[in-house]
Amino acid sequence: MERHYDATWKRTFFCGAPRLSDEGKEAVLNGWLRCRRDLGGIIFIELWDKTGVTQVVFNPELNAEAHERAGFLRSEYVLAVKGHLRRRPEGTENPELPTGQVELLVDDFIVLSPAKLVPFEIDNADTVNEDLRLKYRYLDLRREQMQKNLVTRHNVTRYTRNYFGDHGFIDIETPMLTKSTPEGARDYLVPSRVNPGLFYALPQSPQIFKQLLMVSGCDRYMQITKCFRDEDLRADRQPEFTQIDLEMSFITEEDIMGLVENYLAGLFGEVLGEDVKAPFLRMTWKDAMNLYGSDKPDMRIPMAMVSLEEVFKDGENPFTGLVAGGGTIKGLKLPGGAALSRKEMSDLETRAKALGAKGMANFQIKAGELKGPLVKFLSEDQAAKLKEISQLEDGDALFLMADENWQKACEILGQIRLELGKERGLLQEGFKFLWVTEFPLFEWDEENGRYSAVHHPFTAPMDEDMEFLLSEPGKVRSRAYDVVLNGTELGGGSIRIHNPEMQAKAFQALNFTPEAAKERFGFLLEGLSYGTPPHGGLAIGLDRLVMLMTASKSIRDVMAFPKNQKAQCPMTEAPNMVETKQLEELSIKKIEPIV
Ligand code: AMO
Repeated sequence: MERHYDATWKRTFFCGAPRLSDEGKEAVLNGWLRCRRDLGGIIFIELWDKTGVTQVVFNPELNAEAHERAGFLRSEYVLAVKGHLRRRPEGTENPELPTGQVELLVDDFIVLSPAKLVPFEIDNADTVNEDLRLKYRYLDLRREQMQKNLVTRHNVTRYTRNYFGDHGFIDIETPMLTKSTPEGARDYLVPSRVNPGLFYALPQSPQIFKQLLMVSGCDRYMQITKCFRDEDLRADRQPEFTQIDLEMSFITEEDIMGLVENYLAGLFGEVLGEDVKAPFLRMTWKDAMNLYGSDKPDMRIPMAMVSLEEVFKDGENPFTGLVAGGGTIKGLKLPGGAALSRKEMSDLETRAKALGAKGMANFQIKAGELKGPLVKFLSEDQAAKLKEISQLEDGDALFLMADENWQKACEILGQIRLELGKERGLLQEGFKFLWVTEFPLFEWDEENGRYSAVHHPFTAPMDEDMEFLLSEPGKVRSRAYDVVLNGTELGGGSIRIHNPEMQAKAFQALNFTPEAAKERFGFLLEGLSYGTPPHGGLAIGLDRLVMLMTASKSIRDVMAFPKNQKAQCPMTEAPNMVETKQLEELSIKKIEPIV
């Protein structure tokens, strides 16, 4: 008679649990057959569950019947195995496994489920094509690293809920079927059957709802929630991702930043045992651009850029005109860079050109002497100034980026800094957090010929810059802040505009007509007019946070069922075609795809 799983087959140990101190104990293990070896007539298997593996031994001399049946077992069969734990014979211990001192000698076992031949070897799944992994994601998730990532993610969300709960935040859900939100990506739309021809948008974030919850007097809101953005995908972007979303009333930026940095320091301590110190470094956007050429500087690279206009403003050098016209000259020192070959220097310049630079000159100090194609244009004083500002020492190189456009010069040299830092092994260990503050409120959008909001249109301007809101919008700084970790933007937020007149002005600066503003965000404007506390908040990308905590290369590795780079799910095959009848019910007619 076929034997079934009953109470006598329930595990008494997880597969990762047995230790030498359990020697002699009876044990039942339940799990998957991970690998099998037949040695000298004896069959060894590793039985796996999420906690690890234990070696299981079928010895024909001790139990011929079980040994014979074990001959039919294949990879990934699910088994319940009974037996005795014993010390492994001397010389056969596996010091790499926590269970490596012991093995289970089988008395009896049952097959709970057979398995087809798996499409890839599970322990080596990280070497196979990612779409194949995603097609069989449930197998990919049987890997130790993936299980660890899921557990870390769980530990993060648990800590997060507790932390914010302990600080007076309440968890409030906001709708998934809603109206377009202001983050500026494309929306995912959902047709409404009962309202033919009309669409919901999936939220790009709960932004407007959380602000309205402040109008409601909720005071401190938090939610761990899905957000949807139809944008070009990268290693740290998914169409559907999760935010740790926060909003607080009667606060200033210091309250939010203080709370969030204490949360992050506590989280890294609790979940990773890492000693992260709060408060974090703070830097204005302008300084971040000037020093690191990025609004999310990677502080693990011990190199900062310098401004060299002072050196090149006079004399006969090729940049005097540029400096006179308000152009920018940035310098980046590479310690020990004088040893770079001519080819390496020229490759770097080619790379800078690919990033949009007109060129990238260089200097080196060799045997105490300043060298490089531009040296001949510099007076002795200028050469001395160059060395002093850049703190050049013997053996160093300096790269020079000149452009009329300050931001462009900073960004290109900043990208070179990042690449050099990574390629030349200058990256320091650890978690380097910082806050970037005082972002511009607006940026010029070439394509649409108007300003757009850098964060979103509800971000408050800095009081000092208020007078420029309509006259010179590009000059206005915002009360926004980003928290950055190792060169990745982890989260961003701001103090909001809580006065409807000021909000209307911000829309005007963004070239929204009052009608257009009303059409898109009228319910928020209406809400703000019924007594709104000063408020602000922030959202952290949970996937990015866990990606960095687990040292994963992509956020896909910390999501159970992510989409691929084409926003598809190879497992479910979503998105897929739907029946014509379903479209008809939704009053939708298919047209040829617009390419
Ligand atoms: P923001 O748009 O900056 O702010 O988003 C906050 C954080 O969410 C993460 N994130 C993403 N993660 C994965 N895939 C994506 N496509 C993606 N897009 C964003 C990032 C980012 O820092 N409502 C505002 C927050 C606020 O002002 O309170 C907002 O959504 O880690």
